[in-house]
Amino acid sequence: MAADFEKQSYWHKRFASETAFEWLTSSATFMRLVEPYLSASTDQRILHLGSGTSNLHVRLREKGYADVTNVDYEPLALDRGREIEERFCGDVVMKYAVADVTRLRADLSAPSMFDLVLDKSTVDAVSCGGDAAVLAMAKGVRECLAPGGVWISLSYSGARFELEDLPFDVCVIGNIPTPKTKVTDPDMYYRCYLLRPR
Ligand SMILES: C[S@@+](CC[C@H](N)C(=O)[O-])C[C@H]1O[C@@H](n2cnc3c(N)ncnc32)[C@H](O)[C@@H]1O
Repeated sequence: MAADFEKQSYWHKRFASETAFEWLTSSATFMRLVEPYLSASTDQRILHLGSGTSNLHVRLREKGYADVTNVDYEPLALDRGREIEERFCGDVVMKYAVADVTRLRADLSAPSMFDLVLDKSTVDAVSCGGDAAVLAMAKGVRECLAPGGVWISLSYSGARFELEDLPFDVCVIGNIPTPKTKVTDPDMYYRCYLLRPR
């Protein structure tokens, strides 16, 4: 990823014109990996980190999960998120909060607790700020997970969570093939990680 991807100014410029974009894979594909972790009751509290211009929140609402807090540090992303929800669902019932995912506890109104935290390539953008930024994100997620809660993270990196002091046990729950430009290109995969608090 380009070094600028951790900077809010990059996203501000981008979201001034971008209204819809899915990083790494479609939200429908990501949802197939998330589905086994959705609870039987739809009152599950879900935190969607770095929502951008993805329609992942709409996929959740289609399945009945509306207690979703979409966060991004770029306010334009939240405007786009509201517009997408309104367009697909006819109204806006989800929460949208400006927050830096590397300082979640400070930026989210306390006490915010979640049963499921989702990020689709947001950790990749954060990683451009270095391992300390990813660790700060991980510690913040850990602090706002309710008992039994988990974090599902989609990343292009096979080593994204190889960090000392990570407060999670990590396993890979899905591999998504990356697009090939030539048939002879090697098989490569994005990783879908499940992180359970230690
Ligand atoms: C790679 S895009 C992913 C967007 C969306 N999840 C998707 O799959 O299309 C990264 C997103 O994370 C947001 N972001 C990057 N760093 C952030 C931070 N420290 N705090 C909050 N949001 C951040 C950006 O504004 C952008 O919306």
